[in-house]
Amino acid sequence: MQLHLSQHVTYVGSIDWDRRIFDQLISIPFGTTYNAYLLQGTEKTALIDSVDPDKVTDLEENLADSSVSHIDYIVCQHAEQDHSGSIPYLLEKFPEAKVVTNEKCKGFLIDLLSIPEEKFLLVKDQDTLSLGNITLRFLLTPWVHWPETMVTYYEEEEILFSCDFFGAHVATSDLITDTPMLYISPAKHYFAEIMMPFRNIIQKNLAKIAPLSIRMIAPSHGPIYKDPNPIMKAYEEWASDQTKPMVIIAYVSMHDSTKQMVEYVANKLMKNNVAVKVYNLPKSDIGEVATDLVDASSMILASPTVLAGAHPEAVYAAFLANALRPKLKYISIIGSYSWGGKMVEQIQNLIPNLKAEIIEPVLAKGTPKEEDFKKLDALVQAFLNKNRNQ
Ligand code: FEO
Repeated sequence: MQLHLSQHVTYVGSIDWDRRIFDQLISIPFGTTYNAYLLQGTEKTALIDSVDPDKVTDLEENLADSSVSHIDYIVCQHAEQDHSGSIPYLLEKFPEAKVVTNEKCKGFLIDLLSIPEEKFLLVKDQDTLSLGNITLRFLLTPWVHWPETMVTYYEEEEILFSCDFFGAHVATSDLITDTPMLYISPAKHYFAEIMMPFRNIIQKNLAKIAPLSIRMIAPSHGPIYKDPNPIMKAYEEWASDQTKPMVIIAYVSMHDSTKQMVEYVANKLMKNNVAVKVYNLPKSDIGEVATDLVDASSMILASPTVLAGAHPEAVYAAFLANALRPKLKYISIIGSYSWGGKMVEQIQNLIPNLKAEIIEPVLAKGTPKEEDFKKLDALVQAFLNKNRNQ
């Protein structure tokens, strides 16, 4: 595949149409790409990032198509193996190449890939590297997605190579896209699962790149943005403290008692014009719940009581929400029990990272009765008041 971002920049990455899970954890329903870029300057040649080792053949073919016979620099922006995993192959094929990265990333590459010490050329924040007519500037941008992540700015053509930052897990042949809005939804899904836990640091990284004049953003997953404004604006919104008045109800129900409570609450909220998203957890992609958590104001977790505690599906949803640290403002727990248990307390103990205000939980004994529906009315009213006033 020959794809040119400009006269000096060639795409040499790989499209992974088949992949459906990442890190054995994150659903990627649209596949993904591993973007790698060959920059051929008048004096030196550099490769920015490599590809997942499963796709090294694609990288090999694309480099062969570009007729490159010599690589001086392999810029490693992030040590996770979907970008770094083919560096050992590259160093065998191009033994003259130096791995250009920062001190922290070097440590990870030695730990993960046993790359020899003498292969590294270290850079610090704001350092530049000349390829002749191409100047690369490196900016350390920690936690997009690991602590060592950095981005590379090609000064003359104003291209930002951003690695995971601004990425999207989507396999597409529309790699240099004219329709950035098509990719905002997969980019939000990506943000939810990769970036959301580091939202506050991402605000700082956005401020750090703000002074750059950026004509094109070239991430290492998904489309390359000829118009960087939509994805940058979306990131500013997602990373901000602003929420949308929406209630996510994530539930599991064994014999419909909890489901009756969920339907009652959802219908009442909708009748009062509050946006609601209901997820029956055993039938849902938890990645979609995570995506809604990027900007929703409110969440209700609903569970029956199993073996004295919450249902494992609800436990997983609570654990994940806690790990992803969304900017939820209000949260509650509802559900039912038959002979006692600690479902509500167990879920509350699983979400210490959520700084949301807890709306009084409602626990029904068996199927919900009149007094339970009255308590649910109060819960709905509380969510209405909070969301109207936010
Ligand atoms: Fe795409 Fe964090 O690796």
